[in-house]
Amino acid sequence: MNGVTPTVPNRRFVHHPVMVSEMVEHLSEIPPGPFLDATVGGGGHTRALLNARPDLLPIGLDRDPSAVEAAAVALAGRGATIRQARFAELGEVLDSLQVAGLVGVLFDLGVSSPQLDNPERGFSYRHAGPLDMRMDGTQERSADVVVNSWAVEDLAEILRTYGDERYAGRIAAAIAAARPITSTTALADVVRGAIPAAARRRGGHPAKRTFQAIRIAVNDELSQIEPALNAAIDRMVPQGRGVVISYHSGENRIVKRVLRCRAGLSDEARFRGLPRSPVGGSPVIELIPRGSRRPSPAEVAGNPRASSARFRAFARVETGREEGAA
Ligand SMILES: C[S@@+](CC[C@H](N)C(=O)[O-])C[C@H]1O[C@@H](n2cnc3c(N)ncnc32)[C@H](O)[C@@H]1O
Repeated sequence: MNGVTPTVPNRRFVHHPVMVSEMVEHLSEIPPGPFLDATVGGGGHTRALLNARPDLLPIGLDRDPSAVEAAAVALAGRGATIRQARFAELGEVLDSLQVAGLVGVLFDLGVSSPQLDNPERGFSYRHAGPLDMRMDGTQERSADVVVNSWAVEDLAEILRTYGDERYAGRIAAAIAAARPITSTTALADVVRGAIPAAARRRGGHPAKRTFQAIRIAVNDELSQIEPALNAAIDRMVPQGRGVVISYHSGENRIVKRVLRCRAGLSDEARFRGLPRSPVGGSPVIELIPRGSRRPSPAEVAGNPRASSARFRAFARVETGREEGAA
């Protein structure tokens, strides 16, 4: 993890935060105190919340150094503490900052528009770029490693589980046959060629699901959600509130399971195939409402990337397990 000093504004970092009014509405009544934005990105959500609640003390984390830099600029003068950190480091960072009790938490999962739209970062199937897709460029595993060295069976598995890709086997075999693949557009062409012609015309760009799956594998996105959410919940004060926004089925399944588990509503049998949560039993949070919410049609019309968002909100309750219980 690293601290950051605001420098010049990062004009290239433009991300439209999703379901902002729903987030502000849910969090506007929290007590004054430290607020954790675990995925601070360009700082848009936190800035909107601070406009309604300037008495909050924002702590923003992100694993992407360019997001950390953008957030530091966006939240300059607002008393924010910004750190570069992965979810896996969340508890350690909060402990090092000696945060006594969080009054609110936000997880806005997945990728930001600047990550997706910068061709040099290799997330985009539309623009030529290197096979990279790392949120943090210092990590070893890149898309190049996954695409050009993983076993066909492992590739097919991530395409199925992280991309819900119906043609996972065919695409994985085509990728292996085309190695070495050296660019995003070359990969997109291989995927397109592996999908039956009739299917290419359905469900958006034919490479969309493959790119999503490889991105999730490169950044090991799903395994970090459960421990990070539990660590944040365990550090919340009673009456504190939280919001989690997820964007694809894998994220949503984990978020739903963790929150239901902490709310004492867990039905583990429905989530076979995922690791069992170490926590459960007496309720620590209350879900408000019980299910997820979706963005309004007007928001989706203005920001198509919001279309898959699922918004889950909760409040920490008085009783239950205490700090450090997970
Ligand atoms: C959808 S964006 C958040 C945008 C932000 N809410 C805003 O208003 O600009 C998700 C952010 O989470 C970060 N992220 C994703 N997985 C992470 C992880 N495991 N640890 C830390 N940050 C992560 C990404 O780098 C990205 O900047």
